[in-house]
Amino acid sequence: MKIKRVRGTQDILDLQLQNFVLNQAKKHFTSYNYSQIETPIIEHTNLFVRSLGTHTDVVTKEMYTFTTEGGDEICLRPEVTASTMRAFLENSIEERPWKVFTYGPMFRHERPQKGRWRQFEQFNIEAIATTSIAQDAHFIAMIDKFFNFSLKLENYVLKLNFLGCLEDRKNHKESLKKYLDSIDSQLCEKCKKRKETNILRVFDCKNDCCQKLYTKAPKLTEHLCETCNEEWQQLQELLQFLSVNFIHDPCLVRGLDYYNKTVFEFSSQELGSQNAFCGGGRYELAKELGGKENVPSIGTAIGLGRLLLLVEKNQNELNIPHAPALQIIIPMTEEQHVLALLLANNLQSNNICSDILFESSLNKKMKKANKLGAQHVLILGEEEQKNGTVSIKNMQTGKSNIIKQTEAATFIK
Ligand code: HAM
Repeated sequence: MKIKRVRGTQDILDLQLQNFVLNQAKKHFTSYNYSQIETPIIEHTNLFVRSLGTHTDVVTKEMYTFTTEGGDEICLRPEVTASTMRAFLENSIEERPWKVFTYGPMFRHERPQKGRWRQFEQFNIEAIATTSIAQDAHFIAMIDKFFNFSLKLENYVLKLNFLGCLEDRKNHKESLKKYLDSIDSQLCEKCKKRKETNILRVFDCKNDCCQKLYTKAPKLTEHLCETCNEEWQQLQELLQFLSVNFIHDPCLVRGLDYYNKTVFEFSSQELGSQNAFCGGGRYELAKELGGKENVPSIGTAIGLGRLLLLVEKNQNELNIPHAPALQIIIPMTEEQHVLALLLANNLQSNNICSDILFESSLNKKMKKANKLGAQHVLILGEEEQKNGTVSIKNMQTGKSNIIKQTEAATFIK
């Protein structure tokens, strides 16, 4: 029986677009003074249990965990915000704010479908240890600019909400609980459970009836204290000032527990049901991870796979660099193999992209060179070997020339 790839994983056989997007992202975020870091793919399971929340989907059912021979509980990271905060604390980073980005694979045991994989790539950006609401506006504008300026995307929306501080959420939860209790019989079974365990998550319910009921539910932004309300108003004004289009979505709560105050999500209808391609917000995590004091931070993660689905449709608008022109060397028989190796060596030393076709007949080799999109084919036969020459064919014009082997690089350039 053939061994197939694990469900929910992908073989990515053409990385051209992905590399282009990654390069654009690195360029963009570096220009905002963010630097690249890397943290391990395996972490202690507890890192995520403590930070994401014990009732979140990721922790209750989606983590890939295992116990090592030494008895350590390890997992494949489901996200990298907690890892970045761990790295900040563990390495006693003094820089404030610490502005970093990282990218790589994340793992969540979700039901696979279009845009949802069990192994997926995130490009993650964090500004750690920063309190100013102006930082939130700067951060969100930076992300928005990446999508609409660097990648020239248009068909997306930015949803924004403000979760307030702990006290605000406590007050809101109380009035939300009262409201949900009053309509308990109309709620779906999942929401009845969420109401008792992780009440804000009712807003993530996919059930239309529940969603209709929640339009009348008490809103978080109606329960903000004076300071939070001021920040919320300021954030909206600053984004308007920066010409960042957004909509206020009072039901946006995000699926992880560490958020407070600003939360946001970028989504596109073009993506179908898994429509969020970037999400983040403000969070407090340091104390949960053993830090002595709070470290207010803001960050986001871009789902690279979902973003690529959008960029693919739009790639004609982008200046994606082409692969360098390819030169194909064809030795007619085994007798010319050494010569072909030497010629390829010479071309590559001159930064010319080339390959040698060793196997099969001349006819088949010519067809293959054509299929590979070769710019020139360089043929080495008995005659050429004797005379120190090479027959070089321009595959576009069909014109052939016989030149000295030593002049091949100059001729091509
Ligand atoms: P998240 O919303 O869980 O946030 O994930 C961010 C993005 O990763 C999503 O919007 C989506 O594009 C992508 N994503 C998530 N799960 C999958 C999946 N199974 N398959 C494909 N793509 C997926 C976080 O992970 C937070 N750590 C973001 C953050 C950074 N908050 C503060 N800093």
